[in-house]
Amino acid sequence: MARILTGIQSTGVPHLGNILGAIIPAIEASDKPLNEAFLFIANFHSLTQIKNAEEMKFNSYAVAATWLAFGFDIEKNTLYRQSDVPQVAELTWYLNCFTPYPMLANAHSFKDKSDRLSDINAGLFVYPVLMAADILLYDANIVPVGKDQMQHLEMARDMAEKFNNTMGETLVIPEAQVNKETMYVPGTDGQKMSKSYGNYINIFLSEKELKDVINKKIITDATALEEPKNAEASVVYQLYKLIAPAAQSAEMKSKLEAGGYGWGHAKKDLYEMILSRFAKEREQFNTYMNDVAELDRKLLVGSEKASLVASKTLKRVREKLGY
Ligand code: ADP
Ligand code: TRP
Repeated sequence: MARILTGIQSTGVPHLGNILGAIIPAIEASDKPLNEAFLFIANFHSLTQIKNAEEMKFNSYAVAATWLAFGFDIEKNTLYRQSDVPQVAELTWYLNCFTPYPMLANAHSFKDKSDRLSDINAGLFVYPVLMAADILLYDANIVPVGKDQMQHLEMARDMAEKFNNTMGETLVIPEAQVNKETMYVPGTDGQKMSKSYGNYINIFLSEKELKDVINKKIITDATALEEPKNAEASVVYQLYKLIAPAAQSAEMKSKLEAGGYGWGHAKKDLYEMILSRFAKEREQFNTYMNDVAELDRKLLVGSEKASLVASKTLKRVREKLGY
């Protein structure tokens, strides 16, 4: 059985790009009989950016509610909040002492963030060490990540090897799994959908808010209602195609190309498709968000399972270190 582990930073409500590009594929992979998934909400990592308790809580709940609403099976797998298994902070310290300073100083993501952000804290600098601890604490075999996280994975492997070479075989060396075929979900402005561009669609909004985002934010060209339109080049159709059954996308494409069907019509059809395709998930998400005590109970089960594995790893590590 391979243990797949991944973390999701809790910096907001997951958007349509996150859902189609990461959450649905990960849930499908975790359903395979030979895999067992550890999935956690990386809310210690979020502290590098978020210094507001209410926001911190809300975002962690929103991420958990999304994964549960999309059917992540917590009987077979393990879902937990990073902050509920604080042993990770202990392992982070040990790994810090096996991490050469220049390795962190050369991290792309640190350079990138220190150029962009005003709060350049030491947490940002040691971010890759905490991430390595997340992985190594749970003896993870496979870590699915986006291309931007590859360097962090290399660092985690280096830290594990350095530890093993110095102290004797202790930590499992993880493999990265980069999904090259990642789906490209465009945002309302046609660029890649991203939290940081403010061009995302939150499918859990109320009907009125969702309609407003679709109508007011998705860009269209100025082709008149009666004119034929370039479906493939339009954001409305690109999004529709990603969520509608094939026959219905073919129908929208031919209506757009025939003329007499305006962008307003296409937006209305996209809105209705989002509501129908995600009806169950929208309802479940809201049920969870209105009952965070239930979410806490589910997350507690996950943290208890995770904590057992974490304690075993730490015991091995502490013995090797002479503690
Ligand atoms: P954001 O760009 O909104 O901050 P993240 O970088 O936190 O999103 O993305 C988390 C995961 O969601 C990524 O690993 C990626 O697989 C997926 N993802 C994010 N945006 C998109 C998108 N526009 N299209 C496809 N997948 C996406
Ligand atoms: N750094 C990852 C990101 O921003 C999130 C993350 C934290 C993570 N710890 C992890 C991913 C461990 C995989 C494994 O996307």
